[in-house]
Amino acid sequence: MSAPNLLTPGRIGGLNLPNRLFMAPMTRSRAHAGGVPSDLAIDYYAQRASAGLILTEGVAPVAVGLGYARTPTAETPEQMAVWKKIAAAVHEKGGRIFMQFMHVGRIGHSANRYTSEPLITPSAVRAAGQIWTDAQGLQDYDQPRAIETNEIPGIIEGFAQATRNALAAGFDGVELHSASGYLPMQFLSTGTNKRTDGYGGSVQNRIRFVVETLQAMIAAAGDASKVGIKISPAMPFNDIQDDDPIETYTTLVKAIAPIGLAFLHVLRTPPIPNIFEILRPLYSGPFAAGGAFDLASGNAALASGLADYIVFGKPFTSNPDLAERFASGLELTPFDATTFYTPGAKGYIDYPTLTGQGATAL
Ligand SMILES: Cc1cc2nc3c(=O)[nH]c(=O)nc-3n(C[C@H](O)[C@H](O)[C@H](O)COP(=O)(O)O)c2cc1C
Repeated sequence: MSAPNLLTPGRIGGLNLPNRLFMAPMTRSRAHAGGVPSDLAIDYYAQRASAGLILTEGVAPVAVGLGYARTPTAETPEQMAVWKKIAAAVHEKGGRIFMQFMHVGRIGHSANRYTSEPLITPSAVRAAGQIWTDAQGLQDYDQPRAIETNEIPGIIEGFAQATRNALAAGFDGVELHSASGYLPMQFLSTGTNKRTDGYGGSVQNRIRFVVETLQAMIAAAGDASKVGIKISPAMPFNDIQDDDPIETYTTLVKAIAPIGLAFLHVLRTPPIPNIFEILRPLYSGPFAAGGAFDLASGNAALASGLADYIVFGKPFTSNPDLAERFASGLELTPFDATTFYTPGAKGYIDYPTLTGQGATAL
């Protein structure tokens, strides 16, 4: 068999993928107050149905896990009713979609939250930096409180219940956001995890929250191939720091390699430019690589065996039919970062497709 390229079909668990493109999870800040996705998101995701697999924006599994303005949750019937329409619209267009669970941990502000609960995190270390709020503009991150050991099973159960909710709403699977400095990465990283219980200290203890959360999500799904994970080793975003990211992530990847997950999604960031070369040999299951790929570099990574799938973020914001454009060699529409997080349809569902009819499945 010849080496795969971006247009080679793939398979994740029981799902046939028409190509090797994943649409990256991207927060777009179009949700209503109270964590309810907007109806605009139905069109947005349906327009992108020709991606091999869509990963949704980061979705809070529970209200306490939401920290940003206009971001959604997957907990209440009102929230799930819109998610159900989103999954149905993507399937109607022949697509596949996983929901990404993003629990912000210590990254948030009360003005963005619809719960009065404080932020929770492994140790009460406040994040340096500021966050946008619609009501008060830029604000310092809230002071978080440390999670008690006896609370951890309940927090993990939140991810399990959200998994049940997403699958019941028709999603094909779920992804644990264990990257970008949010709660799971706060457990993994020495800068934010100063715990002295079984969830802190040694690397085996620091990976425990992530491994147990994945196991709970898999039990909820009844099928490991419906659960994926995203990691971003050594990414400094959100004031996160780890003394030895290579040790942390090689240990984590070895621990999860036998589980049979849907995929391991790795975001490459500048501190470790060869992270795919380091992790790929440790993981024989589907390996999805992301971070500033284009057509040529994506095809090269697939051809060399460095990855099985390529994750595209910013290009998908402005090219709903990215797969068709790659197939036909046509130019891409440049993305507009000024509308990444602004409310409304502009810069969200108004980008042209090649046919002007919306994307069709390849
Ligand atoms: C507007 C925007 C929002 C993002 N939101 C998320 C998110 O909610 N969850 C996540 O895991 N990554 C998020 N990311 C990171 C992307 O998933 C991806 O890893 C990153 O953009 C690198 O891919 P790219 O170079 O192809 O854009 C976001 C990126 C952008 C541009």
